[in-house]
Amino acid sequence: KKPKASVIFIFGGSGDLNQRKLTPALYNLFIDGWMPEKFAIVGLGRTQYSDDKFRDHLSKGIQEFSRRKEKNGIWKDFSQHISYMPMDAEDDASYKSLSDRVKEYEKDWGVNPNVIFYLAVAPQLVPDIAQKLSTIKLCSDTQTTRIVVEKPFGHDLKSARELNKLLTSLFDEDQIYRIDHYLGKETVQNILALRFANAMFEPIWNRNYIDHVQITVAETVGVEERGGYYEQSGALRDMVQNHILQLLCMVAMEPPVNFEANEIRNKKVAVLNAIRKFDRAEVQNYAVRGQYGDGWLKGKKVKGYRQEEKVNPQSNVETYAAVKFYIDNWRWHRIPFYVRTGKYLHQKTSVITIQFRPAPHYAFPAEAAETWRPNRLTISIQPEMDIRLRFQAKRPGQTMSLSPVDMIFSYTEAYPDEHEPEAYETLLLDVMEGNPAQFMRADQVEAAWEVVMPIIEAWEQRPPIDFPNYAPDSWGPEDAEALIARDGHNWINLPTK
Ligand code: BG6
Repeated sequence: KKPKASVIFIFGGSGDLNQRKLTPALYNLFIDGWMPEKFAIVGLGRTQYSDDKFRDHLSKGIQEFSRRKEKNGIWKDFSQHISYMPMDAEDDASYKSLSDRVKEYEKDWGVNPNVIFYLAVAPQLVPDIAQKLSTIKLCSDTQTTRIVVEKPFGHDLKSARELNKLLTSLFDEDQIYRIDHYLGKETVQNILALRFANAMFEPIWNRNYIDHVQITVAETVGVEERGGYYEQSGALRDMVQNHILQLLCMVAMEPPVNFEANEIRNKKVAVLNAIRKFDRAEVQNYAVRGQYGDGWLKGKKVKGYRQEEKVNPQSNVETYAAVKFYIDNWRWHRIPFYVRTGKYLHQKTSVITIQFRPAPHYAFPAEAAETWRPNRLTISIQPEMDIRLRFQAKRPGQTMSLSPVDMIFSYTEAYPDEHEPEAYETLLLDVMEGNPAQFMRADQVEAAWEVVMPIIEAWEQRPPIDFPNYAPDSWGPEDAEALIARDGHNWINLPTK
């Protein structure tokens, strides 16, 4: 069923996010028949575009970034729904024109539409825009107004709380959609299916059978032209506070009773609340930071982080972070969750590995033991999309020789004719449908900040002495190897294809 008529205003309409992600996502939803019968996309920004110029600008984005390109004039049909309003978001008076625009659509379409404000703007502009939006009377049913806020959601716990306080004083919680695009990824959503639509995993999904969990989100890109933003952020804020903790919640949460948004979110908040908060003094035993120097990456000479544009030449900002978390509840008592993320690493890969405990008794001949490996479930999120279960098998032959083999579920093989939607497609459709399950509730964001705050504070207090400490195309700093080796484990890197 298609969502009801929607007017989507995009603040920062002339910016990067819209051209790369938002409009391509809406375009693909249109091709797949998911857009409402009546809809309008209105770009807002300071650039002086005419409607046509704006459509041209977005059409370039489709050619470059969309999963499907322009074909058979579909873009032309779609782009009829797009318009542009030059607007200074700081100017109170211009907000009146938004409500006038909504009233026009309301009259034209003869329905009371969803009004969606997508704030694809710098975080410092969010409070002011939200405040101004709340003062305009949009349409008779204010409940159909929704506001979508991009990350970063706050800079630390204090600022996140302030932002939540402000937003929740202006809108109801169920009108606020805090986006974390990892939650829209097909393979991430499938973790819930794997865990809760199958009976065989749940009984062993706990401290009795699982030895440890690893979550790697490795990137081969550097900070690119985002030095200015990244200087305020760093790997912990940019990736761990949000995407990685969300992945951890999916792995660690208790089974939900139903798929209601708040049920799922309650279960995730419970995990975040149970994560052990480190003492600042002991952070060094649990968290490692790194920064890339200059070097070579896939045959190209690249700059070190400190030489990047808009980056302080003495910057202490981390481009790599590894943390060992513990979740203090019955299910996960004493089970480490090792997470790591970084820029300019050897391989682009997001993967979750669940390593099981050894078999309790080993009855095979000693020779067979040499190749013995514990069971392992690997969930590859991107770019590979598969789930593999490693177990021991007997090699063909007259001796009892064992070796580990993989049982693999590959998305592309299992569903050769189906394409997976991009995260933003799924999430924008959710916004139009009014389903906030895969969005961050206020308390979820704050609970996630609470987890990383001791690390942030400890790192701020004690500047790193060894930055830069890893080379491009490596797997990060030595210390990260030591972090996990101390427990007798090693980071699991998937073979590069
Ligand atoms: C963003 C971060 O949220 O996620 C970026 O700000 C990062 O630094 C990106 O590159 C990674 O997203 P994806 O979908 O490419 O894994």
